Amino acid sequence: MALSGKRILLVIGGGIAAYKSLDLIRRLRERGASVRCILTAGAQHFITPLAASAISGQRTHTDLFDREDEADIGHIRLARDADLVVVAPATANLMAKMAGGHADDLASTVLLATTLPILLAPAMNVRMWLHPATQRNLATLQADGIRTVGPNEGAMAEAETGPGRMAEPLEIVAAIESRFAPSGPLVGKHVVVTSGPTHEPIDPVRYIANRSSGKQGHAIARAAAAAGARVTLVSGPVDLADPAGVTTIHVESAREMLDAVETALPADIGIFAAAVADWRVANAGEQKIKKNNGALPNLALTENPDILATIARRNEGRPQLMIGFAAETENVIEHARQKLAKKGCDLIVANDVSTGTGVMGGDSNTVHLVSPAGVETWPTLSKTDVARKLIERLGQMMKGAGQ
Ligand code: CTP
Repeated sequence: MALSGKRILLVIGGGIAAYKSLDLIRRLRERGASVRCILTAGAQHFITPLAASAISGQRTHTDLFDREDEADIGHIRLARDADLVVVAPATANLMAKMAGGHADDLASTVLLATTLPILLAPAMNVRMWLHPATQRNLATLQADGIRTVGPNEGAMAEAETGPGRMAEPLEIVAAIESRFAPSGPLVGKHVVVTSGPTHEPIDPVRYIANRSSGKQGHAIARAAAAAGARVTLVSGPVDLADPAGVTTIHVESAREMLDAVETALPADIGIFAAAVADWRVANAGEQKIKKNNGALPNLALTENPDILATIARRNEGRPQLMIGFAAETENVIEHARQKLAKKGCDLIVANDVSTGTGVMGGDSNTVHLVSPAGVETWPTLSKTDVARKLIERLGQMMKGAGQ
């Protein structure tokens, strides 16, 4: 669905077109968006908060000083917890307040407090629309980065014709979709990213793990999505939120991770940043191992499949670019070179994870890009910046390969 997972904050102003906003809510929800509404006092002359709540499936907000609202969500959170703010209908008065920075009710306060992108669907009488004051306000709002859809020309409620009719709900939906339309160097590409550690069970309550936090892999998934790619993130157990706009599949063990990656394919790019456990316990039992008078449990280890090598060495269905990571504690470049050849990938991002570097679990990273073309060392950067630079590079590599 085109708007799957998108959160829209819909501010409904006081105009007759408010009734169309109820249809807009329905259309947005049909496309997978969630919609939370704010009604101005004027809007409540045309539709009720109850109608907006019933159609949106969420509580509708009306008052700035509503004690329950402020304790529950608060106007500042209302201004933040969405992906886009849509004002429909945007009346002349609401536009004037926005252009002037007024905050004298919930709608105008949220519109002043928000840093989210805003889309306006103006609706008003033709003379009000054409009035120099409204046109000045429109210019101010557009200069502030606010986008508009409509108004349309046509017959109006007051039996006049001209520009002023609110855009139809489906036109507003199209404008919303285009605000979310991906753009960037990886548009049209599918990127599969692995991230985090794996947990290999010893028994139902114990497992073998490692110190990977998943921060670098998750940052890569976010950067790939920001570059316009469709992203599938296969994540081991981490304490991180699922990145917005990314399909995240949660796994525990290396074998589950391999299965999930295979299911996610085909892909154009595979970026395998997970710290996969090399071994699992072959004789992991169904019951918790009990202490037994000092006798030590007999754990038999067996090697896990190498996910990166398995996919990179495929003849059919290999992603065009396969990127591995090398977490090393010594001879970083040399080991990375060996991994590049052994695993059959196109690029290894090598980093020193020895104690004291703070890389494992930390927020910054110093990486070396090791490829058949040579070695490139990047300065110490935040993991977010490493991710951005890496994705930018992969975009160039795809382009270089004529894709
Ligand atoms: N990798 C993988 N599956 C494994 C082991 C590693 O996909 N079973 C991938 C990692 O995601 C990483 C790369 O291989 O992209 C290198 O991982 P690393 O742990 O550094 O290398 P290993 O092959 O495990 O080698 P070693 O532990 O001996 O250094």
